[in-house]
Amino acid sequence: MANLVSTWSKTTQTLPENYIFPVNERPGSVDVPLFQNIPLIDLSANHSQTVQEILDACQEFGFFQVINHKVSKDLIDDTMEVFKEFFGMPVEEEEKLYTNDPTKTCKLYTSGYNYVNEEIHLWRDNLRHPCHPIDEWLHSWPQKPTNYRDVVGKYSLEVRKSSLRILELICEGLGLEHGYFGEELTGAQLLSINHYPRCPDPGFTLGLQKHADPSLITVLSQGSVNGLQVFKDGQWLGVEPVPHAFVVNIGHQLKIISNGKLRSAEHRAVTNSREARTSIVTFISPCQDTIVEPAKSMVGTDVPLFRPIKYKDFFKLFEEKKGDTKATTEVYKIWTSC
Ligand code: OGA
Ligand code: NI
Repeated sequence: MANLVSTWSKTTQTLPENYIFPVNERPGSVDVPLFQNIPLIDLSANHSQTVQEILDACQEFGFFQVINHKVSKDLIDDTMEVFKEFFGMPVEEEEKLYTNDPTKTCKLYTSGYNYVNEEIHLWRDNLRHPCHPIDEWLHSWPQKPTNYRDVVGKYSLEVRKSSLRILELICEGLGLEHGYFGEELTGAQLLSINHYPRCPDPGFTLGLQKHADPSLITVLSQGSVNGLQVFKDGQWLGVEPVPHAFVVNIGHQLKIISNGKLRSAEHRAVTNSREARTSIVTFISPCQDTIVEPAKSMVGTDVPLFRPIKYKDFFKLFEEKKGDTKATTEVYKIWTSC
C-alpha cells in the first residue's frame, strides 16, 4: 500500500507523531542564515582560475554551485516539470511504481528504504533509478508522464557530461593524472528525485537527515525553493537557490581518494509550510566492484588515512549505519584521529 507523503499530506493539518524528530535532531527554525559564502563558480571563466576556485571550495566547504555548466535552462525546467507532474499523478498511477523491494532498480518509495522498521519517518517521497549506460536502464524507468523517458534521458546524459567535466577540473586541481576519474570510478550514475510536500510543522521534522553522500560526487538541481542545509563549523547554513545553477558536493569516495584533502560535508534537507520542494539529485559513483583507496600522489610522503574498500562493501556499510558519518568513517579510516 502506498503511504507516500504526497498523497495523504494534502488533507493533514497536523504532523503525525511518527514524523517528529528528537529535540537534538529537529531543525527548530528552518529559516537559517543563507550560505552567502558557498562559492558560485562560473565554468566559462578563465580555466586556471576555475580550477583553483573549485579546489578551494572542495577543501574548505565540500560544496559549491556552478553556473554556465552547459546544461540548458530549458532542459532543466522541462525536467523539473516532469517530476512535478510525476508527484502530482493520481494515487493509482503512483501505486504502480511503489515498492519496498530493495532489489528493484527503479523505485518509488517514501522516507527511507526500511520504512516498516523506522521509528521516525522522513517527510519525503523518493523516486530513483540508474541512468548509465542509459540503454541498459531506460526500459525500467517510469512511462508516465508520457515524455518522462525522453526528457529525463536527455537530462541524465547532459548532467553526466557536465559532472565529468567538473571531475576533470578537480582532477587537475589535485594534480592527479589526466583521466584519473575514468569509468571504474564514475561508472554508476543514479538519479534520485526527492519530493518534499508542504509540511504543517517544518520545525519538528526533516526531509532528509544529516548525512554525507556515499558517492564520488553529487550534482543537484534544487529549483527555486530553500531547503538544503550544510553543516559548517558547528552551524547549519542554507544553500541559497540560484536559478538553474547546480549544487555540487563531494562524497565519501572523493574524500578517500584525496586522502582527506577534500571535505565531504554533512548536509540535510528541511521542509517548509508554504510550498512543495523537489530536488533532482545525480550521484556519480564507482562501479560496484571498484576498490577505492587514497591516490598514491595524494598520500605522497604522508601516511594514508584510509584503507582500500570495495565500493559495494562501502555502500552496504553505509546503509547499515544509516548514513551516519562517524560510524561509516570508522570502518574505512586507519587512524583514530581522522
Ligand atoms: C541527497 C540530498 C538534498 C536535497 O539526496 O543526498 O542531500 O536538497 N538531497 O534534496
Ligand atoms: Ni545528500
